[in-house]
Amino acid sequence: MRVLFIGDVVGSMGRDMITTYLPRLKKKYQPQVTIVNGENAASGRGITEKIYKKFLQDGVDVVTMGNHTWDNRDIFEFIDQAKKIVRPANFPEGTPGQGMVFVKVNQVELAVINMQARSFMVDLDDPFRKMDRLIAEAKKRTPIIFVDFHGETTSEKQAMGWFLDGKVSAVIGTHTHVQTNDARILPQGTAYLTDVGMTGPYDGILGMRREPVIEKFLTALPKRFEVVERGRGILSGCLLEFDDATGKAKTIQLIQINEDRPFLE
Ligand SMILES: [Fe+2]
Ligand SMILES: [Fe+2]
Repeated sequence: MRVLFIGDVVGSMGRDMITTYLPRLKKKYQPQVTIVNGENAASGRGITEKIYKKFLQDGVDVVTMGNHTWDNRDIFEFIDQAKKIVRPANFPEGTPGQGMVFVKVNQVELAVINMQARSFMVDLDDPFRKMDRLIAEAKKRTPIIFVDFHGETTSEKQAMGWFLDGKVSAVIGTHTHVQTNDARILPQGTAYLTDVGMTGPYDGILGMRREPVIEKFLTALPKRFEVVERGRGILSGCLLEFDDATGKAKTIQLIQINEDRPFLE
């Protein structure tokens, strides 16, 4: 099974990058499943039902989330009916939505789990022990398990990668919006990447307009951050290939499209 994963889609520019490039990426790489992190899809903050449906229309199979899941109130209206949205599984018991979904490709199933880290982030349930429980549940149905681990620190993400080596097919980081150059397959067959990077404005700061961010560093005063809405775009992702029978990763390949790295058909 081949899986395309695209990192944090930020605002309208990010959504436009998906609409423009997803058909071309699918043609080139032939993934059976496409997963997109959509936690910043609505003006950098959360997601709306309209955007969720547009993602599906554009060919996305599963939308993962993160710490921005609840930023747009629209989410509470549709998350319980949205079968293809996964929010971090370690939110407290009783939180709306789901932390794991299954996608069927021919006769093979893929489990997609979204989990949030805790270092320099809000204190959710222990993501490590929560992973153990979810993996046990997933394994009843399939050996192919994809994890979007949404976290701030490289150490916690590496720790999760090694903790899950041999237990899942891939641990791919999101949240920092900057793609790391450490894609690898760990010794027991788990594909690992500290962060897949973002999709949206290429010339902002993590997708936001630069000036207020720089001002905030200069003055330490509160500033209102706004998403960049025009200019050059970037798309960041990775392509994974899994063995259908064992769930082990065979390859992981970084994808980045921007003016410095143009897309080649
Ligand atoms: Fe993000
Ligand atoms: Fe995030």
